[in-house]
Amino acid sequence: MAGIVSAASLLAACGANATDPAGGSATQTPLADVPNTFEQITNYNNYYEFSTDKQAVNPLSANFRPTPWAVEVGGLVQNPKTYALEDLLRFEQVERVYRLRCVEAWSLVIPWTGFELNKLLAEAEPMTSAKYVAFTTLLDPEQFPGQSSPFYPWPYTEGLRLDEAMHRLTLIATGLYGESLPNPNGAPLRLVVPWKYGFKSIKAIVKIELTETQPATLWNTIAPEEYGFYSNVNPEVDHPRWSQRTERRIGELDRRNTLLFNGYADEVASLYSGMDLSVNY
Ligand code: MTE
Repeated sequence: MAGIVSAASLLAACGANATDPAGGSATQTPLADVPNTFEQITNYNNYYEFSTDKQAVNPLSANFRPTPWAVEVGGLVQNPKTYALEDLLRFEQVERVYRLRCVEAWSLVIPWTGFELNKLLAEAEPMTSAKYVAFTTLLDPEQFPGQSSPFYPWPYTEGLRLDEAMHRLTLIATGLYGESLPNPNGAPLRLVVPWKYGFKSIKAIVKIELTETQPATLWNTIAPEEYGFYSNVNPEVDHPRWSQRTERRIGELDRRNTLLFNGYADEVASLYSGMDLSVNY
């Protein structure tokens, strides 16, 4: 257990110097979202299956094999099916420039290609009893050296409420900068939920399962008081060990103010009406 708690601290490693600077030197008005460069996006990665060192993920993932690939869609659906990657690329591919805000208080802007998860879920036809969607990353310690670490309950898992999963902003990314998804970013396909902390956006998905009850997720299992199931970006709700008021955009010197729902409040706040966001963090 002690090992698991220290593992949780690792995700926070760069949060330690992410405290709100006294005097508030953060940028007050969000600047236009200029996408980060391909080099920045593919060389500063959280992908614990490879390494806890953000710069080490790119070289360590060089030989990862993203094809052939299959994703099993099942659980409480009328039409369970195992999709080959090629089947999934038939869903209408869209381009979306989204901010990605890591719980560690840094951020990137990424031009994704992908398809809306709701298209896939509509084809699967959730049963009326389905309330949540659970996602699972590939388990393959031969390709993922980090999965030999006993400190994490592998494989990586994540989850969304069904209405969050059906929201038009929720994407299954299959590429970025017009190229197929690079290995460090979760090839061949990963979730992108832009109004939530980045750890919800699970990489290298092999299973999508509709469930009646809230699914267990890796970070919430390890440290529930630090990583809530919802994990909506919220400058008012601090991480127990650091402030979430500001963030460091990779490539910038000044800190920026963090925005409620990562700036997507107009589109997603209604999903949480009546909920206390400090309780359901
Ligand atoms: N998915 C898996 N399978 N393993 C991980 O370690 N890290 C998460 C998320 N998805 C992670 C994951 C975290 S903490 C973040 S911030 C984002 O991926 C980072 O995505 P990026 O490397 O594409 O910027």
